[in-house]
Amino acid sequence: MTQTSETPIGTDDLFNPTTRRRDSFNSKWSRLEAFGGVSPDEGIAMWVADSDYRCPPVVLEALHAEVAYGMLGYGYDDPAYRAAVQWWLGTRHGWQIDPDWIVTTQGLGLAIATILDLWSAPGEGVCFFTPVYHEFRLKTERAGRRPVELPMRLEDGRYVLDFEAASARITEDTRILLWCNPQNPSGQVWTPEEQRQVADFAERHNLLLVSDEVHCDLVFPGSTHVPMDIAAPEHRARTITLFAASKTFNLAGLRVGQAIIPDPELRQAYQQRLIALNYDAATLGVTATRAAFSPEGAAWADAQLRHLDGNVRLFNGGMAEIPGVWSMPLQATYLAWVDFSRLGMTEDEILRRVRDEAKVVPQFGRNFCAETALWHRFNLAMPRAQVAEAVSRLQAAFADLQ
Ligand SMILES: Cc1ncc(COP(=O)(O)O)c(C=O)c1O
Repeated sequence: MTQTSETPIGTDDLFNPTTRRRDSFNSKWSRLEAFGGVSPDEGIAMWVADSDYRCPPVVLEALHAEVAYGMLGYGYDDPAYRAAVQWWLGTRHGWQIDPDWIVTTQGLGLAIATILDLWSAPGEGVCFFTPVYHEFRLKTERAGRRPVELPMRLEDGRYVLDFEAASARITEDTRILLWCNPQNPSGQVWTPEEQRQVADFAERHNLLLVSDEVHCDLVFPGSTHVPMDIAAPEHRARTITLFAASKTFNLAGLRVGQAIIPDPELRQAYQQRLIALNYDAATLGVTATRAAFSPEGAAWADAQLRHLDGNVRLFNGGMAEIPGVWSMPLQATYLAWVDFSRLGMTEDEILRRVRDEAKVVPQFGRNFCAETALWHRFNLAMPRAQVAEAVSRLQAAFADLQ
């Protein structure tokens, strides 16, 4: 069945809205045709990592109040906002931070780009374990730095870090390690021991360690996210943690994130650079973050996880019914990482079926590293009925394998 404007996509509860996101201007749906060659009228957009349901009522009320007040001049990352970030990290992750450690950025993409700019020079190396969030490589390349890919090994359905092979790839002029924690695209949660090994590796090669923890509040029961600073506090002087409400609460368009930098020298250097570039905090983003990091926000985030858990079960169960297709069990994130490599098909043939026939547009596997061209990543943060529709279309596109 092809989804049409008349097909209900939800039941109008918090996570199953009947409002179609494709009817508004947004990157995931409005740019679907340009990215995936599929019209938003018949496609299902599963590529961009944001959610197809509204952010929490507590956030919308705060935003409505500010808009009703009507004075949208310059704001700043005020003490109540800093206290909310501190409260959230303390209560949700057991991480006690000083609010002064928080440097507010216009999102984490910008945080990564400005870190590369400040702590490496053109031509120098920036390393990351792959497959990984494609922007690590793209931002490195766009900045004129040299991407140093450190391939992970897949063993018994889990990515394993190969420090010996990684060390062999690090050159004298490699400056920064971008670490994805929890991992995008695999949804893997790292153990404290793995994280300590990563921090030791950063020390051995004298690398600035950037721990990107934007997905850390999207962790399913049975797994626990441990912030890098808790796992390896002795490496604090070289560690910057990136954090934000953006993924958990669907606020990415408001462009606010936090670089948490305990070391005063690193922090001051970074603050100065952001001031020099005139990147100050976006008023509505600060308002939304302050409202999200609250007990009401926490209750909503828990309810969202239950919804996502149902979506993951539905999607992974559906993929398991296609012989030869396997979706990694998700510990974190709403991003399903699906292995089509055992089908014996080419990348073109897989895409012909997924994108052209099913009209489902994932984030393409080759963007995460060349070796994962036969994998694709599907965003499940959407109404349940839309996930069900995607599953039935994908099953139909591979029906000849049954
Ligand atoms: C690991 C990771 N870091 C950073 C970002 C981007 O963050 P922002 O929207 O704040 O630029 C994403 C978005 O998908 C991500 O997955």
